[in-house]
Amino acid sequence: MSKPILISGIQPTGKLHIGNYLGALKNFVDLQNSGRYKCYFFVADLHSITESYDPKEKPGQVLNLVLDYLSAGLNAEKSTIFIQSKIPAHSETAWILNTVTPFGELKRMTQFKDKSEHQRENINVGLFDYPVLMASDILLYDAEFVPVGEDQLQHLELTRTLARKFNKKFPPDGRAGGKVFIEPKPLLTETPKIMSLDNPNKKMSKSMPEGCLFLDDSPQIMTEKIKRAVTDSGKEIKYLPESKPAISNLLRIYKNLSGLPMKKIEKKYENKSYGQFKKDLSNVIIDYFMVFQKKKNLLSKNIRKIEKLMAVGNKKAEAIANKKLEEVKKATGLKK
Ligand code: AMP
Ligand code: TRP
Repeated sequence: MSKPILISGIQPTGKLHIGNYLGALKNFVDLQNSGRYKCYFFVADLHSITESYDPKEKPGQVLNLVLDYLSAGLNAEKSTIFIQSKIPAHSETAWILNTVTPFGELKRMTQFKDKSEHQRENINVGLFDYPVLMASDILLYDAEFVPVGEDQLQHLELTRTLARKFNKKFPPDGRAGGKVFIEPKPLLTETPKIMSLDNPNKKMSKSMPEGCLFLDDSPQIMTEKIKRAVTDSGKEIKYLPESKPAISNLLRIYKNLSGLPMKKIEKKYENKSYGQFKKDLSNVIIDYFMVFQKKKNLLSKNIRKIEKLMAVGNKKAEAIANKKLEEVKKATGLKK
Protein backbone atom coordinates (compact mmCIF):
# COMPACT_ATOMS: atom_id res chain seq x y z
CA MET A 1 0.00 0.00 0.00
CA SER A 2 1.24 3.45 -0.79
CA LYS A 3 1.87 5.80 2.10
CA PRO A 4 -0.59 8.60 2.87
CA ILE A 5 0.46 12.01 1.62
CA LEU A 6 1.32 14.79 4.05
CA ILE A 7 1.99 18.43 3.26
CA SER A 8 2.89 21.57 5.16
CA GLY A 9 4.60 24.89 4.71
CA ILE A 10 5.97 27.89 6.58
CA GLN A 11 6.00 31.50 5.39
CA PRO A 12 9.42 33.06 4.81
CA THR A 13 9.04 36.26 6.79
CA GLY A 14 12.24 36.48 8.80
CA LYS A 15 14.45 34.49 11.11
CA LEU A 16 12.95 31.41 12.79
CA HIS A 17 12.76 31.44 16.57
CA ILE A 18 12.71 28.55 18.97
CA GLY A 19 8.87 28.67 19.03
CA ASN A 20 8.76 28.07 15.26
CA TYR A 21 11.29 25.30 15.67
CA LEU A 22 9.61 23.40 18.51
CA GLY A 23 6.09 24.22 17.33
CA ALA A 24 6.51 23.39 13.64
CA LEU A 25 9.85 22.54 12.06
CA LYS A 26 10.99 19.86 14.53
CA ASN A 27 7.63 18.18 14.06
CA PHE A 28 8.08 18.20 10.26
CA VAL A 29 11.43 16.46 10.69
CA ASP A 30 9.96 13.86 13.07
CA LEU A 31 7.07 13.19 10.67
CA GLN A 32 9.47 12.81 7.77
CA ASN A 33 11.68 10.44 9.74
CA SER A 34 8.75 8.34 10.96
CA GLY A 35 8.68 6.90 7.45
CA ARG A 36 4.88 6.72 7.63
CA TYR A 37 4.10 9.42 5.09
CA LYS A 38 4.99 10.62 1.66
CA CYS A 39 5.98 14.15 2.64
CA TYR A 40 5.88 17.51 0.90
CA PHE A 41 7.29 20.58 2.64
CA PHE A 42 7.34 23.95 0.98
CA VAL A 43 8.22 27.61 1.46
CA ALA A 44 4.98 29.60 1.37
CA ASP A 45 6.39 32.72 -0.28
CA LEU A 46 3.15 33.67 -2.05
CA HIS A 47 1.41 33.74 1.30
CA SER A 48 4.19 35.83 2.82
CA ILE A 49 3.67 38.74 0.43
CA THR A 50 0.25 39.43 1.93
CA GLU A 51 2.17 41.16 4.73
CA SER A 52 4.10 44.37 4.11
CA TYR A 53 7.71 43.60 3.18
CA ASP A 54 10.78 44.84 1.37
CA PRO A 55 11.11 43.12 -2.05
CA LYS A 56 14.89 43.27 -1.78
CA GLU A 57 14.73 41.04 1.28
CA LYS A 58 12.41 38.36 -0.04
CA PRO A 59 14.92 36.18 -1.97
CA GLY A 60 17.16 36.05 1.10
CA GLN A 61 14.24 35.12 3.34
CA VAL A 62 13.23 32.28 1.02
CA LEU A 63 16.78 30.93 0.86
CA ASN A 64 17.18 31.27 4.61
CA LEU A 65 14.05 29.21 5.24
CA VAL A 66 15.25 26.51 2.83
CA LEU A 67 18.55 26.43 4.75
CA ASP A 68 16.62 26.20 8.02
CA TYR A 69 14.58 23.28 6.66
CA LEU A 70 17.68 21.39 5.57
CA SER A 71 19.76 22.23 8.64
CA ALA A 72 16.97 21.07 10.94
CA GLY A 73 16.95 17.71 9.20
CA LEU A 74 14.47 17.85 6.33
CA ASN A 75 16.06 15.78 3.64
CA ALA A 76 15.46 16.22 -0.06
CA GLU A 77 15.85 12.51 -0.59
CA LYS A 78 13.13 11.66 1.91
CA SER A 79 10.74 14.56 1.29
CA THR A 80 9.83 16.74 -1.65
CA ILE A 81 10.94 20.25 -0.69
CA PHE A 82 9.88 23.13 -2.90
CA ILE A 83 9.11 26.83 -3.29
CA GLN A 84 5.42 27.65 -3.70
CA SER A 85 5.81 30.51 -6.18
CA LYS A 86 7.86 28.36 -8.56
CA ILE A 87 4.76 26.31 -9.25
CA PRO A 88 2.16 28.38 -11.09
CA ALA A 89 -0.46 25.66 -10.59
CA HIS A 90 -0.87 26.88 -6.98
CA SER A 91 -2.07 30.32 -8.02
CA GLU A 92 -4.07 29.02 -10.93
CA THR A 93 -5.92 26.47 -8.85
CA ALA A 94 -6.52 29.07 -6.16
CA TRP A 95 -8.32 31.20 -8.75
CA ILE A 96 -10.55 28.32 -9.77
CA LEU A 97 -11.24 27.47 -6.12
CA ASN A 98 -12.23 31.12 -5.60
CA THR A 99 -15.27 30.41 -7.74
CA VAL A 100 -16.57 27.78 -5.30
CA THR A 101 -15.65 29.77 -2.19
CA PRO A 102 -18.57 31.46 -0.44
CA PHE A 103 -17.69 35.05 0.40
CA GLY A 104 -19.36 34.64 3.79
CA GLU A 105 -17.07 31.76 4.76
CA LEU A 106 -13.93 33.78 4.10
CA LYS A 107 -15.34 36.69 6.05
CA ARG A 108 -15.52 34.49 9.13
CA MET A 109 -11.80 33.62 9.15
CA THR A 110 -10.33 34.76 12.45
CA GLN A 111 -6.79 35.02 11.09
CA PHE A 112 -8.00 37.55 8.51
CA LYS A 113 -9.71 39.55 11.25
CA ASP A 114 -6.62 39.42 13.47
CA LYS A 115 -4.21 40.34 10.70
CA SER A 116 -6.46 43.16 9.51
CA GLU A 117 -6.29 44.59 13.02
CA HIS A 118 -2.49 44.38 12.96
CA GLN A 119 -1.92 45.77 9.50
CA ARG A 120 -4.63 48.37 9.13
CA GLU A 121 -2.61 50.19 6.48
CA ASN A 122 -2.47 47.09 4.26
CA ILE A 123 -5.72 45.13 4.38
CA ASN A 124 -5.30 43.67 0.91
CA VAL A 125 -7.48 41.18 -0.96
CA GLY A 126 -4.61 38.68 -0.91
CA LEU A 127 -4.86 38.61 2.85
CA PHE A 128 -8.57 37.88 2.52
CA ASP A 129 -7.97 35.17 -0.09
CA TYR A 130 -5.07 33.62 1.86
CA PRO A 131 -7.07 30.53 2.95
CA VAL A 132 -8.07 29.72 -0.65
CA LEU A 133 -4.44 29.67 -1.77
CA MET A 134 -3.72 27.47 1.23
CA ALA A 135 -6.51 25.10 0.11
CA SER A 136 -4.92 24.99 -3.32
CA ASP A 137 -1.51 24.13 -1.80
CA ILE A 138 -3.03 21.17 -0.05
CA LEU A 139 -5.57 19.87 -2.57
CA LEU A 140 -3.17 19.83 -5.52
CA TYR A 141 -1.12 17.08 -3.87
CA ASP A 142 -3.97 14.81 -2.71
CA ALA A 143 -2.72 15.34 0.83
CA GLU A 144 -4.53 13.35 3.49
CA PHE A 145 -2.69 14.94 6.39
CA VAL A 146 -1.63 18.48 7.16
CA PRO A 147 0.43 19.11 10.28
CA VAL A 148 -0.52 22.58 11.49
CA GLY A 149 -0.93 24.51 14.69
CA GLU A 150 -4.34 25.20 16.18
CA ASP A 151 -4.47 28.64 14.61
CA GLN A 152 -4.68 27.01 11.17
CA LEU A 153 -7.54 24.60 11.93
CA GLN A 154 -10.18 26.97 10.60
CA HIS A 155 -8.28 27.21 7.30
CA LEU A 156 -8.10 23.46 7.08
CA GLU A 157 -11.82 23.15 7.71
CA LEU A 158 -12.37 25.60 4.84
CA THR A 159 -10.08 23.46 2.66
CA ARG A 160 -12.33 20.48 3.37
CA THR A 161 -15.43 22.51 2.56
CA LEU A 162 -13.93 23.69 -0.74
CA ALA A 163 -12.91 20.14 -1.69
CA ARG A 164 -16.46 18.96 -0.99
CA LYS A 165 -18.08 21.81 -2.89
CA PHE A 166 -15.78 21.39 -5.86
CA ASN A 167 -16.25 17.61 -5.98
CA LYS A 168 -20.01 18.01 -5.91
CA LYS A 169 -20.17 20.73 -8.52
CA PHE A 170 -17.50 19.34 -10.83
CA PRO A 171 -17.34 15.54 -10.80
CA PRO A 172 -14.73 14.23 -13.23
CA ASP A 173 -16.55 12.87 -16.27
CA GLY A 174 -16.55 9.18 -16.90
CA ARG A 175 -16.07 8.47 -13.21
CA ALA A 176 -19.46 8.18 -11.57
CA GLY A 177 -19.03 9.30 -7.96
CA GLY A 178 -15.45 10.13 -8.77
CA LYS A 179 -13.75 12.98 -7.01
CA VAL A 180 -11.06 15.39 -8.10
CA PHE A 181 -10.00 16.34 -4.57
CA ILE A 182 -9.32 14.47 -1.36
CA GLU A 183 -10.52 16.02 1.90
CA PRO A 184 -7.45 16.50 4.12
CA LYS A 185 -7.32 16.04 7.87
CA PRO A 186 -5.30 18.13 10.28
CA LEU A 187 -2.49 16.37 12.09
CA LEU A 188 -2.46 18.00 15.48
CA THR A 189 0.67 16.48 16.89
CA GLU A 190 1.37 17.78 20.33
CA THR A 191 3.93 20.52 19.99
CA PRO A 192 4.81 22.91 22.76
CA LYS A 193 3.67 26.49 22.68
CA ILE A 194 6.70 28.59 23.55
CA MET A 195 6.08 31.87 25.30
CA SER A 196 8.02 35.09 25.01
CA LEU A 197 11.17 35.28 27.16
CA ASP A 198 10.18 38.70 28.45
CA ASN A 199 6.49 37.99 28.94
CA PRO A 200 5.38 34.43 29.72
CA ASN A 201 1.76 35.35 29.00
CA LYS A 202 2.45 36.17 25.35
CA LYS A 203 3.39 33.71 22.62
CA MET A 204 6.95 34.05 21.40
CA SER A 205 6.47 35.94 18.14
CA LYS A 206 8.66 37.67 15.60
CA SER A 207 6.45 40.73 15.95
CA MET A 208 8.03 41.12 19.40
CA PRO A 209 11.69 40.27 18.72
CA GLU A 210 12.81 41.29 22.24
CA GLY A 211 11.27 38.11 23.62
CA CYS A 212 12.55 35.77 20.90
CA LEU A 213 15.42 33.34 20.91
CA PHE A 214 16.41 32.95 17.26
CA LEU A 215 17.95 29.76 15.90
CA ASP A 216 20.76 31.83 14.40
CA ASP A 217 21.64 33.72 17.61
CA SER A 218 25.26 33.38 18.67
CA PRO A 219 26.05 31.41 21.86
CA GLN A 220 26.79 34.70 23.64
CA ILE A 221 23.44 36.19 22.67
CA MET A 222 21.64 32.99 23.62
CA THR A 223 23.27 33.00 27.04
CA GLU A 224 22.42 36.66 27.57
CA LYS A 225 18.81 36.20 26.51
CA ILE A 226 18.29 33.28 28.89
CA LYS A 227 19.98 35.19 31.67
CA ARG A 228 17.64 38.13 31.08
CA ALA A 229 14.52 35.96 30.68
CA VAL A 230 11.89 36.87 33.28
CA THR A 231 11.28 34.44 36.10
CA ASP A 232 8.50 34.06 38.66
CA SER A 233 8.49 35.03 42.31
CA GLY A 234 9.71 32.35 44.68
CA LYS A 235 12.65 30.18 43.82
CA GLU A 236 11.27 26.72 43.18
CA ILE A 237 12.03 25.17 39.80
CA LYS A 238 8.78 23.36 39.16
CA TYR A 239 6.57 22.94 36.12
CA LEU A 240 3.44 24.82 37.18
CA PRO A 241 2.19 26.64 34.06
CA GLU A 242 -0.63 28.41 35.92
CA SER A 243 1.22 29.75 38.92
CA LYS A 244 4.76 29.81 37.51
CA PRO A 245 4.38 30.57 33.81
CA ALA A 246 7.88 31.96 33.26
CA ILE A 247 9.93 29.15 34.76
CA SER A 248 7.51 26.62 33.22
CA ASN A 249 8.23 28.09 29.79
CA LEU A 250 11.97 27.69 30.36
CA LEU A 251 11.44 24.15 31.65
CA ARG A 252 9.43 23.36 28.53
CA ILE A 253 12.34 24.47 26.35
CA TYR A 254 14.78 22.44 28.47
CA LYS A 255 12.60 19.33 28.23
CA ASN A 256 12.06 19.51 24.50
CA LEU A 257 15.69 20.04 23.64
CA SER A 258 17.21 17.65 26.17
CA GLY A 259 14.62 14.91 25.75
CA LEU A 260 14.57 14.41 29.54
CA PRO A 261 11.22 13.86 31.26
CA MET A 262 9.94 16.86 33.23
CA LYS A 263 10.03 14.96 36.52
CA LYS A 264 13.71 14.20 36.06
CA ILE A 265 14.50 17.83 35.33
CA GLU A 266 12.53 19.01 38.36
CA LYS A 267 14.40 16.50 40.51
CA LYS A 268 17.74 17.62 39.13
CA TYR A 269 16.98 21.23 40.10
CA GLU A 270 15.41 20.61 43.49
CA ASN A 271 17.18 23.03 45.84
CA LYS A 272 19.11 24.63 42.97
CA SER A 273 18.92 28.30 42.09
CA TYR A 274 17.30 29.96 39.08
CA GLY A 275 20.82 31.10 38.20
CA GLN A 276 22.18 27.57 38.04
CA PHE A 277 19.17 26.36 36.07
CA LYS A 278 19.47 29.17 33.56
CA LYS A 279 23.17 28.52 33.11
CA ASP A 280 22.51 24.86 32.36
CA LEU A 281 19.58 25.72 30.10
CA SER A 282 21.82 28.00 28.05
CA ASN A 283 24.23 25.12 27.60
CA VAL A 284 21.45 22.76 26.53
CA ILE A 285 20.23 25.32 23.98
CA ILE A 286 23.72 26.13 22.71
CA ASP A 287 24.73 22.47 22.35
CA TYR A 288 21.53 21.75 20.46
CA PHE A 289 21.62 24.66 18.08
CA MET A 290 25.36 24.65 17.45
CA VAL A 291 24.80 21.41 15.53
CA PHE A 292 22.09 23.19 13.55
CA GLN A 293 24.24 26.28 12.99
CA LYS A 294 27.26 24.29 11.88
CA LYS A 295 25.17 22.47 9.33
CA LYS A 296 23.63 25.73 8.15
CA ASN A 297 27.05 27.31 7.84
CA LEU A 298 28.28 24.45 5.77
CA LEU A 299 25.22 24.47 3.51
CA SER A 300 25.54 28.26 3.06
CA LYS A 301 28.96 27.76 1.58
CA ASN A 302 27.48 26.00 -1.41
CA ILE A 303 24.40 27.90 -2.45
CA ARG A 304 24.63 26.58 -5.98
CA LYS A 305 24.13 23.09 -4.64
CA ILE A 306 21.07 24.21 -2.65
CA GLU A 307 19.65 25.90 -5.71
CA LYS A 308 20.07 22.71 -7.70
CA LEU A 309 18.42 20.73 -4.95
CA MET A 310 15.50 23.16 -4.96
CA ALA A 311 15.20 22.97 -8.73
CA VAL A 312 14.80 19.20 -8.42
CA GLY A 313 12.18 19.56 -5.67
CA ASN A 314 10.29 22.21 -7.63
CA LYS A 315 10.25 20.01 -10.69
CA LYS A 316 8.96 17.00 -8.78
CA ALA A 317 6.22 19.04 -7.13
CA GLU A 318 5.32 20.78 -10.36
CA ALA A 319 4.72 17.51 -12.17
CA ILE A 320 2.27 16.38 -9.47
CA ALA A 321 0.56 19.76 -9.26
CA ASN A 322 0.19 20.11 -13.03
CA LYS A 323 -1.39 16.70 -13.29
CA LYS A 324 -4.01 17.65 -10.72
CA LEU A 325 -4.58 21.02 -12.39
CA GLU A 326 -5.30 19.14 -15.64
CA GLU A 327 -8.00 17.19 -13.84
CA VAL A 328 -9.38 20.43 -12.42
CA LYS A 329 -9.47 22.05 -15.85
CA LYS A 330 -11.15 19.07 -17.40
CA ALA A 331 -13.76 18.85 -14.65
CA THR A 332 -14.52 22.57 -14.90
CA GLY A 333 -14.71 22.60 -18.68
CA LEU A 334 -11.63 24.75 -19.18
CA LYS A 335 -9.98 21.95 -21.09
CA LYS A 336 -11.38 19.23 -23.31
P1 AMP B 1 4.38 32.08 12.03
O1 AMP B 1 5.61 32.61 11.42
O2 AMP B 1 3.94 32.78 13.28
O3 AMP B 1 3.27 31.86 11.03
O4 AMP B 1 4.74 30.60 12.55
C1 AMP B 1 5.20 29.57 11.73
C2 AMP B 1 4.95 28.25 12.45
O5 AMP B 1 5.54 28.23 13.75
C3 AMP B 1 3.47 27.95 12.65
O6 AMP B 1 3.24 26.57 12.39
C4 AMP B 1 3.20 28.26 14.11
O7 AMP B 1 2.19 27.45 14.66
C5 AMP B 1 4.55 27.97 14.77
N1 AMP B 1 4.78 28.89 15.89
C6 AMP B 1 4.94 30.24 15.82
N2 AMP B 1 5.17 30.78 17.04
C7 AMP B 1 5.16 29.74 17.93
C8 AMP B 1 5.34 29.65 19.36
N3 AMP B 1 5.59 30.73 20.10
N4 AMP B 1 5.26 28.42 19.93
C9 AMP B 1 5.01 27.33 19.17
N5 AMP B 1 4.84 27.34 17.83
C10 AMP B 1 4.90 28.54 17.21
N1 TRP C 1 -0.83 29.34 6.69
C1 TRP C 1 0.27 28.53 7.20
C2 TRP C 1 0.88 29.21 8.43
O1 TRP C 1 0.81 30.41 8.58
C3 TRP C 1 1.32 28.32 6.14
C4 TRP C 1 0.78 27.54 5.00
C5 TRP C 1 0.49 28.02 3.75
C6 TRP C 1 0.42 26.18 5.03
N2 TRP C 1 -0.01 27.01 2.96
C7 TRP C 1 -0.07 25.88 3.70
C8 TRP C 1 0.48 25.18 6.01
C9 TRP C 1 -0.52 24.60 3.39
C10 TRP C 1 0.04 23.89 5.65
C11 TRP C 1 -0.46 23.62 4.36
O2 TRP C 1 1.45 28.53 9.28
